[in-house]
Amino acid sequence: MDLTEPGAAERLYRELQADGVQVETLVNNAGFGLRGPFVELDAARQTQMLQLNAVALTELCRLFAPEMARRGRGGILNIASTAAFQPGPLMAVYCATKAYVSSFSVALGEELSGTGVRVTCLCPGATATAFGDAAGVSKSRLFRAGAMSSMRVAEAGFEALHAGTRLKIAGFKNWVLALSVRFAPIWLAAKLSRRFLEDEAG
Ligand SMILES: NC(=O)c1ccc[n+]([C@@H]2O[C@H](COP(=O)([O-])OP(=O)(O)OC[C@H]3O[C@@H](n4cnc5c(N)ncnc54)[C@H](OP(=O)(O)O)[C@@H]3O)[C@@H](O)[C@H]2O)c1
Repeated sequence: MDLTEPGAAERLYRELQADGVQVETLVNNAGFGLRGPFVELDAARQTQMLQLNAVALTELCRLFAPEMARRGRGGILNIASTAAFQPGPLMAVYCATKAYVSSFSVALGEELSGTGVRVTCLCPGATATAFGDAAGVSKSRLFRAGAMSSMRVAEAGFEALHAGTRLKIAGFKNWVLALSVRFAPIWLAAKLSRRFLEDEAG
């Protein structure tokens, strides 16, 4: 189902209900990125990115979390990114959607504490999937510095969800990088982020 279409989350929920499917664990993984100057990127595609990365994810949580809470068990694994931790010039909207996912997920996890529903926000760094080419970042310094395997990232998310971890950064290097920007002024973090998102050649 194309989750960039308004109302798609509701349709997905109703179809599952009609099929008698009870969702124990909701994994909000679908997402994409776009690299380029904000004023030059296709406006409609940027809106679709907001719709998929942020709106559909929120709607799916809203649809599935109440019945999980009624049952007294369930899990929600929302995929953000290390892009959540600093503004990302050249991926301004993408990084903002991931900051939203991280903030929203940790808040929701706290709201649902004591209900038996676990919410984990997984933040991968560069990962070897189709994402890099689709977003236009596979030649960036970030990806050239090395990408984790999708299997290792998935395992980190799975383990974090089962351990009840609210926010998990996949990989030690990514954890150090994400932590280090907390101590930098935000303008400097944005400048460094831009350097990472530029192609290695410049
Ligand atoms: N790869 C990275 O470096 C990286 C780093 C940090 C965070 N992430 C995040 O990780 C998540 C997964 O990305 P990935 O790396 O696995 O990229 P990917 O290989 O491009 O996979 C993207 C996934 O999103 C689904 N999707 C894309 N557009 C959709 C739409 N309109 N409606 C429904 N589903 C749609 C795709 O489904 P189909 O296969 O059916 O198209 C696919 O399952 C994303 O949220 C991404 O932002 C990735």
